[in-house]
Amino acid sequence: MSDDFKKNLDLALGNAKRLSNKILIDGKLISAKSSNKIKVVNPSTGEKIGEAPQCDAHDVDTAVGSAETAFHKWKKIPARERGKMMTAAARKLEDRRDEIETLLALDTGNALRTQAKPETAASIELTHMFAGLAGEIKGENYPPNIPNTIHYTTKDPIGVVCAIIPWNAPLFLTVAKIAPAIVAGNTVVLKTAEQAPFCALLVCEILQQELPPGVLNVISGYGEECGEPLIAHEKVRKVTFTGSFSVGKIIAMKAAPKLCPVTLELGGKNPNIIMSDADLEIAIPGVIDGMRYTRQGQACTAGSRVYIHEKIYDKVLEGAVDKLSKLKMGNALDETSDIGAIISEEQLKRTLYYMDIAKKNSSTEILHGGNQSKGGEYKDGFYYEPTLLSGLPVSSPVCQEEVFGPVACAIPFKSFDEVMKSANDTQFGLSAVLWTKDLSRALQFVDEIEAGFVQVNQCVAPRANVSYGGIKMSGLGKEYAFDSMINHFTQSKTVLINRGKSNIDV
Ligand code: NAI
Ligand code: MG
Repeated sequence: MSDDFKKNLDLALGNAKRLSNKILIDGKLISAKSSNKIKVVNPSTGEKIGEAPQCDAHDVDTAVGSAETAFHKWKKIPARERGKMMTAAARKLEDRRDEIETLLALDTGNALRTQAKPETAASIELTHMFAGLAGEIKGENYPPNIPNTIHYTTKDPIGVVCAIIPWNAPLFLTVAKIAPAIVAGNTVVLKTAEQAPFCALLVCEILQQELPPGVLNVISGYGEECGEPLIAHEKVRKVTFTGSFSVGKIIAMKAAPKLCPVTLELGGKNPNIIMSDADLEIAIPGVIDGMRYTRQGQACTAGSRVYIHEKIYDKVLEGAVDKLSKLKMGNALDETSDIGAIISEEQLKRTLYYMDIAKKNSSTEILHGGNQSKGGEYKDGFYYEPTLLSGLPVSSPVCQEEVFGPVACAIPFKSFDEVMKSANDTQFGLSAVLWTKDLSRALQFVDEIEAGFVQVNQCVAPRANVSYGGIKMSGLGKEYAFDSMINHFTQSKTVLINRGKSNIDV
């Protein structure tokens, strides 16, 4: 173990220990009412790193009470003042960047160099962006359609916002939800993911230091026991969720009886399409980047259906396999690792389940990977080789369902019409990528593809000021941009004021 690796690990373990068994309520780290605990494990080693409170409806009530009390004062603070506080909070995140990125790598198993550091940087940038937009929240002034009347709309805070996040990008998704909600004058109760609770808690602890107590509250726990009472709580007026498509549907149903607005960022089975005229210098690395192999494929935007024109099929796959073979998998806190560990044993089993289906199909060709990594440095951690498959029929569950692991399927095609039909033949509509030099084709792709996040000749991850969200069964609404802050975290009043008649006679 190098000195840096050991230093990173000690820093992260220290924070995990300090934050163990804590929730954040009314500005303070406290113990939960529930005495049940969730074991938290380092995905890189399988070792226990701490515990998170298994909060239930009583803790939900305390957290929502704290947020509701804070709301009545917070909404009256001028928007620019709220923004300045968030800017100060973002600066604090910068000061404690080392702690945040190492704890993120420990929590998630996402490699420090390739994932945890960029996610931390992107999260600080996003917090600054929303802080700076505080003064831009405004309604509209209408022309005098009704005689003698002033007509305008307001953009007001909604109240207590419930944010529920998954484990795959727990830092970015935390700030993507809480920063716009808080800057717009709401208060928040965040429920962290049971597999990776610590980094989100650390970041909220730091942000809360620059905010009045109770504006930001954090609880941990399981979906049914903690998430559902939080959504259903009568004082929660808005829900924002990122996670699986099946839970997204439950969340919409739980929020429906009180007509509570819901933003949903759900899964995808995203096409990454390489046309025969594509620039392979960028398209081949685009297969690797697009699949998010350095995040173990645990990304909702993962381009897991790789459609390649038959004329260049072998050449592209040969190049992709060459690149895959150069990636180093290992402990997330070791900066020489390109790829880290899968979040949990349960999630590793999901990859094994889909690979079992693939292996049982006689037409499957495993071009790279295809095995769980065991023994040696992989002993007791959750590792699976980055895997590229060819030959599976598009109808296979491996090509249709979200594996959320490091498994991509290559699929050959003959024509643009054929590939578009296949790419759109899914319940999902999250992201899609096309590689071509033909502008006309590119624009036709943009017109015809059924996806909310569409890229041509690149496959970057969503970031600050990129309006991001899915269509079809991949979600409801957009996040990460100014319009999302207005659309999802404010409510509007329409105001009509009769001008009256002046009674001063001069
Ligand atoms: P999940 O959707 O069950 O969990 C995400 C969050 O929702 C967690 O905080 C969890 O505690 C909470 N939750 C679960 N059930 C709930 C309920 N009934 N009410 C309220 N909150 C609830 O995702 P999970 O189980 O971690 O992963 C399973 C699969 O979901 C993955 O393999 C992947 O396919 C998909 N997924 C997609 C994500 C995305 O970014 N689109 C993120 C995480 C998972
Ligand atoms: Mg689940």
